Amino acid sequence: MTEKECYILGIESSCDDTAAAVINNGKILSNVVATQAIHEQYGGVVPELASRAHQQNIVPVVHEALRKANIDKNHLSAIAFTRGPGLMGSLLVGTSFSKSLALGLGVPLIDVNHMQAHILAHFIKAEGQSAPNFPFLAMTISGGHTQIVKVTNYFEMEVIGQTIDDAVGEAFDKSAKILGLPYPGGPLVDKYAQAGNPKAFKFPKPKVGLMDFSFSGLKTSVLYFVEKEVAKNPDFISENIEDICASLQFTIVDYLMDKLKNAVKKTGIKEIAIGGGVSANSGIRTALKEAESKYGWKTHIPKFEFCTDNAAMIAIVGELKYKNQNFAENNVIASARMKF
Ligand code: KG4
Ligand code: ZN
Repeated sequence: MTEKECYILGIESSCDDTAAAVINNGKILSNVVATQAIHEQYGGVVPELASRAHQQNIVPVVHEALRKANIDKNHLSAIAFTRGPGLMGSLLVGTSFSKSLALGLGVPLIDVNHMQAHILAHFIKAEGQSAPNFPFLAMTISGGHTQIVKVTNYFEMEVIGQTIDDAVGEAFDKSAKILGLPYPGGPLVDKYAQAGNPKAFKFPKPKVGLMDFSFSGLKTSVLYFVEKEVAKNPDFISENIEDICASLQFTIVDYLMDKLKNAVKKTGIKEIAIGGGVSANSGIRTALKEAESKYGWKTHIPKFEFCTDNAAMIAIVGELKYKNQNFAENNVIASARMKF
């Protein structure tokens, strides 16, 4: 089969998004995501509900991805799926579906590490997106992950820093919840922050390892701060929402940048690629742009649809592994704590 004829279906089901995408020669032909609204009312992802929703969504989502890509399932070259890390019940749906489909079609099965996929999403060929040069530092920031990875080549990656408790997206969402904002609150904090004074209030930056992160204390300090102020003025939150959000966002972004600076210092690598839902944040985007002129960094942010959980990133890893004939065994199992 020539490279031109290679069509890979990627399937993602590690958390609360059921997604499928088709890739051909680095270009995404379709990228379908069914986001599960059911979790909003609980203020966070409920694992059992996520698995059930994946079961309902997976067939129509895959169908839609094939339809949009205008390709028949019999023309697929391989099936790539998220093996882990993630929620076990959610992973099991994508894993068993992919195994059955690959077996039924008689095509290879390719297992994908979700964290590697967030990083390799930078190599999808898309307008306005530039692939980083090796070696580079990847920072993945989302509701489920916060880590800095040294990337030497496609499959040689080393985690050099990570959160010891909450993910950065959780810090945004949990603080937003304290402020009475709906889930997920990150984008709303960002919106209010743009009209506020980032120096109005001061929040602490937790001290942990040079390139590690901790966010659980920040949420507690927001809680104590708000409780104290509301006791004095019941309208404190509504009267100061912009300033509170701007100060919170400033603290989080400054903290992320501190860690990146430490990683650059430690590795000597100045090429930075970020991914994950939090990379939509206007504060981190501005800080990275500033770092280009200030410190001579080169920075990359993928298109937003490739930042949040998606199957296009699974498909690109599938394609890269397919080229190396790096296939999974038929008895492969999901792995909730899969390492690199
Ligand atoms: O990657 P993602 O869609 O899902 C996973 O967590 O895997 O990331 C979602 C996270 C949520 O915590 C959400 O609040 C946060 O990304 N987020 C933001 C912004 N947009 C999304 N946080 C801050 N500012 C934003 N603009
Ligand atoms: Zn993710």
